[in-house]
Amino acid sequence: MSSSILGRSGFHGLRALAVAALALGVAALGTGVAQAKTNAKEPQEVSFSFEGPFGRFDQAELQRGFKVYAEVCSACHSMNLLSYRDLAQPGGPFWDPKHPNISPAESPYAKAIAAQYKVPDIDPDTGDVIQRPATAADRFKAPFANEAAARAANGGALPPDLSVIARAREGGPAYIYSLLLGYEEAPAGMTVPDGKYYNPYMAGDMSSYWKGAKDKVPEGGFIAMARQLVDDRVQFDDKTPSTAANEAHAVATFLAWAADPHQVERKQTGIAVMLFLLVFTLLTYLSYRQIWRNVSH
Ligand code: HEC
Repeated sequence: MSSSILGRSGFHGLRALAVAALALGVAALGTGVAQAKTNAKEPQEVSFSFEGPFGRFDQAELQRGFKVYAEVCSACHSMNLLSYRDLAQPGGPFWDPKHPNISPAESPYAKAIAAQYKVPDIDPDTGDVIQRPATAADRFKAPFANEAAARAANGGALPPDLSVIARAREGGPAYIYSLLLGYEEAPAGMTVPDGKYYNPYMAGDMSSYWKGAKDKVPEGGFIAMARQLVDDRVQFDDKTPSTAANEAHAVATFLAWAADPHQVERKQTGIAVMLFLLVFTLLTYLSYRQIWRNVSH
């Protein structure tokens, strides 16, 4: 009698432990980013294929997102942490699962993309600065030679490097998506400075540009980047309609991948670890039952 009571409570204890471990694991796998209060509008509720513990990047969307970056954003924004070969690494936009043994640097896709760009180099014989075709091992070509040139071309504002922007901004890809589509006419009573645009998702303090009531300053801020994405700005190679929303969603996906290319692998490892722990818990419980089988407490 008493042994069966102990056995049951032992079982409950173990089960509670397993449930707690699972809950912890699932919580750790979630990608939620804490939202602090700013005067900017909360990003739109937009879903991405890579969210949640079982999320994965949609490879076709990564390719579309790279196209948006290459044809639009790369005119002003560098991505200095990426090389062309990174595009062909496992899980990347141009990873080819049919040829897993080809190293990313040898990928025909990475090579073909790199070959479209010319990068500065030094002529080994004369020491002159020359332009040569990029190789897969080269970093993404930057639009400007240096920060001063970037500012000069953008009215004094610096277009930030986009390599890790999806992790550097609160709200991540949902923020990028919302910002790119969020341009609005400035509310009446607001003076927009020259060379700036009103965007409710941009953080900033606009109180000195606002004529209305002090407690009714509109959400958002000014940004030195004009609206970039409109319908048909980029022609997608698959059947996806080239709407501004699809362009923004794709480039936000691509930037999320660039900022954290191994997140899918990490989640999968997490799931494998949880499964292992579950099996291990079960085995421990069964051996406990086995060892104490004939012992009366
Ligand atoms: C014509 C140049 C230009 C192009 C093209 C451009 N941007 Fe920008 N972008 C800028 C500038 C300048 C800033 C800095 C704005 C500021 O500080 O007010 C900026 C800022 C940003 C920011 C940071 C906003 C913040 O929270 O500080 C993001 C994200 C961004 N751009 C994404 C993109 C994406 C994605 C594209 C391609 C769809 C793109 N940009 C195309 C010039 C450009």
